[in-house]
Amino acid sequence: MPFSYHNKQDKESSWRERWGVKFRWTPQHLTPTDLQPMIHTYDTLATEAAEHLDYMSSRFSDVGFSGEGNGTTQAEERPRRDLYELLQQCAANDHDTGRLWKEINTVPDWVDWEQIERGQRVFYRYGGPTITALTFMSLLGGMGSGRTVETLNRTGGFSADVVRRRLLETLQHTLHVTQDLESIKPGGDGFVDSVRVRLLHAAVRRRVLQIAAVNPSYYNVESLGIPINDLDCVGTINTFSATVIWMGLPRQGIWLRKQEITDYLALWRYVAYLMGAPHEWMSTPASARRMMESLLVAEIQPTAVSATLANNIISGLQCQPPTYASRQFMCAMTYWLNGRELSEALEIEHPSMYYSVLLARKALHKVLLHDKSQGGLGYTARFNLKFIPSLDRPSTVRGSVPPESRKNNNTKSSSSVERTALVTLLASAALFGASAWCCVRVGKWVISWAGSSGNAKRFL
Ligand code: HEM
Repeated sequence: MPFSYHNKQDKESSWRERWGVKFRWTPQHLTPTDLQPMIHTYDTLATEAAEHLDYMSSRFSDVGFSGEGNGTTQAEERPRRDLYELLQQCAANDHDTGRLWKEINTVPDWVDWEQIERGQRVFYRYGGPTITALTFMSLLGGMGSGRTVETLNRTGGFSADVVRRRLLETLQHTLHVTQDLESIKPGGDGFVDSVRVRLLHAAVRRRVLQIAAVNPSYYNVESLGIPINDLDCVGTINTFSATVIWMGLPRQGIWLRKQEITDYLALWRYVAYLMGAPHEWMSTPASARRMMESLLVAEIQPTAVSATLANNIISGLQCQPPTYASRQFMCAMTYWLNGRELSEALEIEHPSMYYSVLLARKALHKVLLHDKSQGGLGYTARFNLKFIPSLDRPSTVRGSVPPESRKNNNTKSSSSVERTALVTLLASAALFGASAWCCVRVGKWVISWAGSSGNAKRFL
């Protein structure tokens, strides 16, 4: 990678600790100065293609896909042109869309489909803990990246009242890319989702830049970088992959084998490629881990906006299907996985002892996407632009979800779920106690039997 090292101290090996993670800093780690240029580079290919698609899209409907001119966040209610289909149609006759189409359909030579399939299996082998890590570390803890969240703050996608649906759509993308080999290969669900999201990112980028060009105070490109820049994307892919491998799963007692790590990284490297993000750093486990540690030093710097968005995630999910977890329970989960230092910096309430203890036995949740009655998404997301950056709403407010708009309010309460967890905990404790008691009794009996048979032998 074309990075240089400026600080003499950064050239030397030393132990460092950031946000509860201890690691050996080496000359190969990337300093904040090394990473900084990446905030000004971005996915130009998709951005240029998006310009043409926006023009074509506006010819088909009265709403451009950049959302200009409608000022509403309920864009999904109107029929919209599927950007992936439009890209496919335009690619043959247009230069920019043609280049993007060619790139996504060119499989890089480092892709080994068998390895990618093994990487998908890793996801399902540890499905529950992986989804827990993705929700509470990658997404919630990831809000600690104070610079990156400035873009999310502009769109409103992390407002308390819509964040649940936003997270379900992100989960849909993850489930599609991990589903099976056909799904991630060109034309499959995970492949198409990734391309749609790439175009969605390009639309958000263009929209924020357009507003900032007229109102520079809306978004400071100089200090924050281009919206959804290369460093932001490396950081996000890192939270989906390396953070899960070396932080999220180990904190739940799971250490992946070497082969599993290489395979899981290969899967996400291909997703990064499809989404137009830099991916060289994922070519070996060592370089991926170094990037994770470098980002912990350079990028995780929580701000007031970080705290607002992190709290909105908890507000949006609390007492909601499919988990019905209470706010306190989710706070306990956040402290457990992200550690006290980061959780406090994100202004997450301290969980009570009761909830901290409950976590020890919390069962894995079955996450449902398609059954709306069970709190699932109830539809397949097309990743259209719904949360349109606008000058009327320059930032996201910290909020709560009004009781009347909570899903399935009467069907199940969070306390009943927690009661179940408590009963499971007590039953397990009782079972453990009974087993221990039996073992002690049997042990005593064996010792006394051995002693008496020894004595008997001596008498003979
Ligand atoms: C490269 C890894 C990334 C993945 C896998 C990813 C995934 C997704 C997905 C699945 C969606 C669709 C959600 C929906 O339809 O509501 C989405 C939307 C969005 N993403 Fe990303 N994303 C990535 C990087 C980023 C980065 C670095 C940013 C910058 C902060 C970002 C900002 C957004 C925004 C603004 C939206 C539109 C919806 C909203 O306002 O929240 N994404 N992303």
